Amino acid sequence: MHSANKLVQILVLASSLFIAAAAQSASTFAGSTSTAVFPPPNATVTATDTFFPDGSQVGFAGPTPTGDEAEAIATAPSNSKVDSVYPLVRPAAADKTSKAFDLLQHLANLAPWQSVHSFGLPSSSPLIPDGCNLHQVHLLHRHGARYPTSGAGPAQFAATLHAAATGPGFSASGSLKFLNTWTYKLGAEIMTPFGRSQLFNLGVGFRVKYGDLLKGFTNLPVFRTTSEARMLDSALTFAAGFFGVQSYQQDYHQLITVENAGQNNTLSPYFNCANANNNIGNFGNVQANAWAAVYLQPALERFSQEIRGVNLTISNLVSMQQLCAYETVALGFSSFCGLFTEVEWKGYEYYIDLQFWYGNGPGNPAASAQGIGYVQELVSRLTQTRITEFNSSVNGTIVSNNVTFPLDQPVFVDASHDTVLSSIFVAMNFTSLAANGPLPTDHIPSGQTYFVNQIAPFASNIVGQVLSCPANGKPSHIHWVLNDAVLPLTGVNGCKPNENGLCELSTFIAGMKQRIQEVDFAFDCFGNYTIPIPDLIVDGQYPKNLRK
Ligand SMILES: *[C@@H]1O[C@H](CO)[C@@H](O)[C@H](O)[C@H]1NC(C)=O
Ligand SMILES: *[C@@H]1O[C@H](CO)[C@@H](O)[C@H](O)[C@H]1NC(C)=O
Ligand SMILES: *[C@@H]1O[C@H](CO)[C@@H](O)[C@H](O)[C@H]1NC(C)=O
Ligand SMILES: *[C@@H]1O[C@H](CO)[C@@H](O)[C@H](O)[C@H]1NC(C)=O
Ligand SMILES: *[C@@H]1O[C@H](CO)[C@@H](O)[C@H](O)[C@H]1NC(C)=O
Ligand SMILES: *[C@@H]1O[C@H](CO)[C@@H](O)[C@H](O)[C@H]1NC(C)=O
Ligand SMILES: *[C@@H]1O[C@H](CO)[C@@H](O)[C@H](O)[C@H]1NC(C)=O
Ligand SMILES: *[C@@H]1O[C@H](CO)[C@@H](O)[C@H](O)[C@H]1NC(C)=O
Repeated sequence: MHSANKLVQILVLASSLFIAAAAQSASTFAGSTSTAVFPPPNATVTATDTFFPDGSQVGFAGPTPTGDEAEAIATAPSNSKVDSVYPLVRPAAADKTSKAFDLLQHLANLAPWQSVHSFGLPSSSPLIPDGCNLHQVHLLHRHGARYPTSGAGPAQFAATLHAAATGPGFSASGSLKFLNTWTYKLGAEIMTPFGRSQLFNLGVGFRVKYGDLLKGFTNLPVFRTTSEARMLDSALTFAAGFFGVQSYQQDYHQLITVENAGQNNTLSPYFNCANANNNIGNFGNVQANAWAAVYLQPALERFSQEIRGVNLTISNLVSMQQLCAYETVALGFSSFCGLFTEVEWKGYEYYIDLQFWYGNGPGNPAASAQGIGYVQELVSRLTQTRITEFNSSVNGTIVSNNVTFPLDQPVFVDASHDTVLSSIFVAMNFTSLAANGPLPTDHIPSGQTYFVNQIAPFASNIVGQVLSCPANGKPSHIHWVLNDAVLPLTGVNGCKPNENGLCELSTFIAGMKQRIQEVDFAFDCFGNYTIPIPDLIVDGQYPKNLRK
């Protein structure tokens, strides 16, 4: 009895000491100051660093015509808002039947990115789940809003119109009246001023969400982009937002990989994939054009009544829809947007969905091959194992060097293009995006799952979060967040259905390795084959059972 009492006393004493200690440490902790220093004190960057030449030393910027200056404050219609925060006038369709209709959601790859609501996981969240902590992130993003690429439809339309206007009998009336005085002000290829705000904001947002990971760096971070002017501009603007304009040039290394014919570059893989640049690569345009002849026929008849001296074509009308997007992100306002109805804008969106599905997505037999090089690099980073065999678009010189391709960073940032993001997602087997199967070219199917507006808008961004669950344990899970919404990983062999899109890291890596085995880069990119018609491909590879 006595000794038992004593034991109780000791236990009471011990637990009150414990409570006192806990209370004391909690009170010392609460309100204490914490700070972080970045860059790591002894990590320095020197302007002469030979591994990281700047843009002028690397070259290969591509064409850079600038176009005319914007003057939205004068060119926007009288009742529109041209705010400093969002200086673009929200485009409106010709008819205003539904209040919920947001034309920007239908501009596909030419839309400024917006947060996606959900990829079919209604209860998922991009936040780190309770009981886990964040170990590492892999960001892959697209450049910001740009002008049309060289020789694209909008400039051709302007040339056609100008040729007609300088000939006899030209006049435009009704909804097309503005064409009488319209001039073509767009440049080509380079990022627009609005694109700058997108990348700056992406950098700021990324710092707010993931800045704490910088504490894990012992060397300066290495981020990658390609040499094209808009790519370098995007990467530097992201860095300015992420690090701050006063110091960003000293806070990290920007690796600028050459984007040019014949180069191995996982961020511009079409330059090392012959079938990306022939009829196989062009198949997306063929399919999209078949659909354009359907959805734009009513508009062609409508506009043909309103213009004399030129016979408009379906392809002119596609260019006019593209001009709505390009002028909006370059000049702040476009008269072309209000020419088309909501149904015609949905038709345009689907036109681009077809172009990507059959050109750079699930339905193109060379798509996975183009994306697989990035997947190999991802596996290399996730496993801290160097790539030793070079049979894809991976550049052995870059990835074999621990200066240009470090494997142990807490944060990876790569900049690329819309078509590349699209092919990487196919290579990664994000099959939920392709769930509705091959897309028809004569109507928009119900239950569409493949939206380029969600996959590759301007400044599109995907973040792979490597998590430790339980917190402070070893990295154990991965989570992919595309434009703020969680992607299901059920297309990756072994990843179980998970309402929050989590997959065990080892399972995910095994799935990516299996994908690397599955994808035949040499055949799909360089084989002499034609696309099977009808094209029932959904995994971005030439069907192995059809090989001769
Ligand atoms: C940084 O450099 C200083 C001076 O050269 C040295 O004393 C210090 O140990 C270094 N710190 C680290 C973390 O390497
Ligand atoms: C690999 O990248 C380096 C650096 O950008 C470049 O000089 C080299 O030509 C590339 N090699 C190939 C085969 O593309
Ligand atoms: C437009 O098409 C009509 C009928 O085919 C043709 O007679 C006319 O010359 C064409 N006009 C122009 C400007 O090409
Ligand atoms: C470039 O890619 C080709 C095809 O995959 C490969 O044979 C070659 O070794 C690669 N070169 C480098 C430097 O990575
Ligand atoms: C990079 O590799 C070299 C040669 O293998 C090695 O000496 C060096 O320590 C490595 N540096 C880092 C930062 O891993
Ligand atoms: C990728 O998805 C296809 C179905 O489209 C499936 O047959 C294949 O096994 C998947 N591969 C991996 C590695 O997940
Ligand atoms: C590269 O070669 C390895 C070994 O031959 C093969 O397993 C893998 O599938 C190939 N990768 C590509 C992308 O062709
Ligand atoms: C591809 O195959 C076709 C038919 O078999 C043949 O006519 C053509 O010359 C081949 N092309 C190349 C580039 O080998």
